[in-house]
Amino acid sequence: MNQPGSTPAKDKEKTTKDYASYFQTTYQPPSLKDAKKRGKEQINIVKDFAVDEDLKKIGAGKKFYIRTYGCQMNEHDTEVMAGILSDMSYEATTDIMEADLILLNTCAIRENAENKVFGELGHLKPMKVENPDLLIGVCGCMSQEESVVNKLLKTYDQVDMIFGTHNIHRLPQIVKEAYFSKERVVEVWSKEGDIVENLPRVRKGNIKGWVNIMYGCDKFCTYCIVPYTRGKERSRRPEDIIEEVRHLARNGYQEVTLLGQNVNAYGKDFEDMEYGLGDLMDEIRKIDIPRVRFTTSHPRDFDDHLIEVLAKGGNLVEHIHLPVQHGNSDILKLMARKYTREHFLELAGKIKKAIPNASFTTDIIVGFPNETEEQFQDTLSLVKEVEFDAAYSFIYSPREGTPAAKMKDNVPLEVKKDRLQRLNAVLNEISLRKNQAYLDTVVEVLVEGESKKNPDVLSGHTASNKVVNFRGPKHLIGKIVKVHITDAKTWTLSGDLADEKAGVV
Ligand code: 5AD
Ligand code: SF4
Repeated sequence: MNQPGSTPAKDKEKTTKDYASYFQTTYQPPSLKDAKKRGKEQINIVKDFAVDEDLKKIGAGKKFYIRTYGCQMNEHDTEVMAGILSDMSYEATTDIMEADLILLNTCAIRENAENKVFGELGHLKPMKVENPDLLIGVCGCMSQEESVVNKLLKTYDQVDMIFGTHNIHRLPQIVKEAYFSKERVVEVWSKEGDIVENLPRVRKGNIKGWVNIMYGCDKFCTYCIVPYTRGKERSRRPEDIIEEVRHLARNGYQEVTLLGQNVNAYGKDFEDMEYGLGDLMDEIRKIDIPRVRFTTSHPRDFDDHLIEVLAKGGNLVEHIHLPVQHGNSDILKLMARKYTREHFLELAGKIKKAIPNASFTTDIIVGFPNETEEQFQDTLSLVKEVEFDAAYSFIYSPREGTPAAKMKDNVPLEVKKDRLQRLNAVLNEISLRKNQAYLDTVVEVLVEGESKKNPDVLSGHTASNKVVNFRGPKHLIGKIVKVHITDAKTWTLSGDLADEKAGVV
């Protein structure tokens, strides 16, 4: 089966990929070894995705439930799968007990993320026993791991479908096969990764939207599984991205987040033009949508042109998520981050100078193999120097198949836990201090909904990504309003609705 209308990204003369070769066998195990290869194979752009006519009614009268683990990329993949299933006449449900089709969209970044999924599959087993017609699928990053697929096949016979992050657009055929063949369907492509445009999406709400700008990662940080599970770096064409952002703007969205594992590498794979993230942001800032964010950045590729464009402000928000991972240059080298502590500090300084009101957030790993107390102290001192507004901090988790997993490690878990606690204490103290600086100021808040803790309170974010809670009428949801800050905690600000004419910080 060839995908009609497939358009190769770089060379229209080249023949389109023969998808038939992928579908001849049902079981194609993922291979971490193959996933590691970054060949010169062509990236196809499949432009005209559509659910086959004979599959459009396959879900009539049936309900689907998707549980998502992990990052925003996964959340957005879930929106796409929900879109595809809706095109197959399935109806969404939030009650797992009434679902006819359950998908677990998994995360592989740390071991505890994986354990949660195996635990959940255990809970689902009795449902499958009671209702053999129930279809259960595992997709997302875990399905791209050889060892996980083997474990699922061996011990989790409640799972009917296993498909990878590159196979989402194949969902209709995968579901059909699972219904009709009554055999487990495994469809995971190791190193492949195309770009499929025009996928349907059911977006969560109509206030904030995610837009993929690129897929995959070629950085191969030594601790990280993502380059193996998400495939090679491949950028969407700017015109497709801009059209999607315009579409969101036309439909009243207030904020868009541009997504990629390493957005600063955007465009590096284009062979026909020099075009990077700075160029893309410069175009997107002209679109009439109030807020534009992007995530996740890599310090190595964060270039001056991007800083220059971000400094123009407007709808480009003053929040930079810039994962540092560690404060010691030797560890950064072992992590293959390809920058030093000094380079990171210089970059952070440059960004702060160009965008003085920028808020900074980061990701940090403690307990990398053989991390010494002195090296850990370098992380603490870097955190104090940069003064991050907030940070995600993690204990290093060995991931099978990554280079770091082969390193001998002399740091006991108890020491790692202690370092995490000490790091968090410093991070929290800085976050609180940074939030207190907002006291008695007026900020603009995009109102996203009711607060999780109290339905009488509304909640939203500032452009700098601070959570703000305040009391106000529900009709403000979806609007950007001014709030006078009266209280500051480590994670949140709260205040009162302010006069529309009040000046903001
Ligand atoms: N162990 C712990 N944290 C990890 N991350 C990625 N891989 C690992 C790992 N093996 C963290 C990094 C990354 C974030 C998304 O997850 O900090 O930026
Ligand atoms: Fe993982 Fe990010 Fe490094 Fe890519 S850049 S390997 S996603 S940590």
